[in-house]
Amino acid sequence: MKPVQAVTLWWVLLLVSRLGATRKGSPEEASFYYGTFPLGFSWGTGSSAFQTEGAWDQDGKGPSIWDAFTHSGKGKVLGDETADVACDGYYKVQEDIVLLKELHVNHYRFSLSWPRLLPTGIRADKVNKRGIKFYSDFIDALLKSNITPIVTLHHWDLPQLLQVKYGGWQNVSMASYFSDYADLCFEAFGDRVKHWITFSDPRTMAEKGYETGHHAPGLQLHGTGLYRAAHHIIKAHARAWHSYNSTWRSEQRGLVGISLNCDWGEPMDISSPKDVEAAERYLQFCLGWFANPIYAGDYPQVMKDRIGKKSAEQGLEMSRLPMFSLQEKSYIKGTSDFLGLGHFTTRYITERNYPSRQGPSYQNDRDLVELVDPNWPDLGSTRLRSVPWGFRRLLHFAQTQYGNPPIYVTENGASQKLHCTQLCDEWRIQYLKGYINEMLKAIKDGANIKGYTSWSLLDKFEWEKGYSDRYGFYYVEFTNRNKPRYQKASVQYYKKIITANGFPNQREVESWYAKALETCTINNQMLAAEPLLSHMQMVTEIVVPTVCTLCILISAVLLMLLLQNQS
Ligand code: FCB
Repeated sequence: MKPVQAVTLWWVLLLVSRLGATRKGSPEEASFYYGTFPLGFSWGTGSSAFQTEGAWDQDGKGPSIWDAFTHSGKGKVLGDETADVACDGYYKVQEDIVLLKELHVNHYRFSLSWPRLLPTGIRADKVNKRGIKFYSDFIDALLKSNITPIVTLHHWDLPQLLQVKYGGWQNVSMASYFSDYADLCFEAFGDRVKHWITFSDPRTMAEKGYETGHHAPGLQLHGTGLYRAAHHIIKAHARAWHSYNSTWRSEQRGLVGISLNCDWGEPMDISSPKDVEAAERYLQFCLGWFANPIYAGDYPQVMKDRIGKKSAEQGLEMSRLPMFSLQEKSYIKGTSDFLGLGHFTTRYITERNYPSRQGPSYQNDRDLVELVDPNWPDLGSTRLRSVPWGFRRLLHFAQTQYGNPPIYVTENGASQKLHCTQLCDEWRIQYLKGYINEMLKAIKDGANIKGYTSWSLLDKFEWEKGYSDRYGFYYVEFTNRNKPRYQKASVQYYKKIITANGFPNQREVESWYAKALETCTINNQMLAAEPLLSHMQMVTEIVVPTVCTLCILISAVLLMLLLQNQS
């Protein structure tokens, strides 16, 4: 952790522990709710191409902005890690399908790599047939195993050429390049894929890519770049949806949606109208930024007001938040057949009552402070705390704000910070149990939730955090060249939830926990034995062939000498 971050976090914790005593209306830890999910509820897990595939320059794939970012050698990623190999998923399709079967999931959410399919990003330039074949075979293999593919078109790995030539998402031309790419995917895979997600967590993509520079392409265009990127992403999403709707829907009968990530924002003091307003603002700047144009035709009023006012104060003629024309508003409105929701944790929100020190920025536009309660279980990662009740509130918010849309939870999960070889991940089991139970309550409240994707199948490349955050059901030994996968205890637990379609009764649910922990002890022993196995593997793969070659050489030399002596 950088010193500045450490100081901020310390300050935040201190503040909450002080305010903790005065916080009114803190939600009670609600009791556990036993029951099952609606028939046909879809259980799954997920991943994304850049985080798992590796094979970054294989079989005709072009470079992505994340390849360039990780190769820049400028210390952008913890430990200067790259995803050149990652989980080696490109070469381990069959092995990973076995893991999915073991989990008993109904669906698998994964993303296509745009530069693997279109090396320059532009369809008219070249289509990579080997890329098409790779995903086509993968989809077939999933379907053969009775696993529904939920396919994301873009999970952050923009083709590098589009960045270099056009400035990536700063340029409105991305909308038409994306739409051409989407069309290619609908054409190539749409006979078998019935659930499409255009973008995954575009807010983080815009904020970290174009405002803080923590993610590729690493730009810091404070207070402007992220809004412009988001504007073009929303247009690109709408174009892809319209293209599906007019060209492919009647024949393929699938659904196209977007996946938006947001933490829940709870007012620090619910009796303070300013805090209540600040928490609402937090959600509008987070979820509403993308969901409002798609469900209601325009950005949230509070974003237009705040950014407009601040832009004027900053002497700008126009708001830093771009505007949609009337025609665009009606084109964008209604372009999601379902809402994909990603959710990991919760924040307390309070109005910021001190002046900001920096110039224009997303942070300043929101005028709020995010806090965590030190009593919320800390899962080891600096950001993540387990606050299951926040999930129910976010689901309720989405239900009421956007007209009770069908919701697919596209990401929800917990990571462990350390390079931990502990496969008995009790904390993940507790997280899963708590969050899935709150989702069950949200369904009881009337939310139209169709499926749940636990994040993620494997430990993988976690963007600027390298391999230090482990979200997987399966532990991946990254230091081993074969990238072996090991089952964590949470596999057994999630499998039980899936098989029972929820939490049937207390007695049964309690027995799951004990059984899950039993299995992981055995797996831990296997992992501990791994160094010995890799040693043996080294002996068979390197030492034995080298010794044999040497023996042959020596025999040949001896033979030659012998023949010379005789003649
Ligand atoms: C989301 C990303 C996903 C994963 C989680 C932890 O924002 O979409 O790839 O890294 O965060």
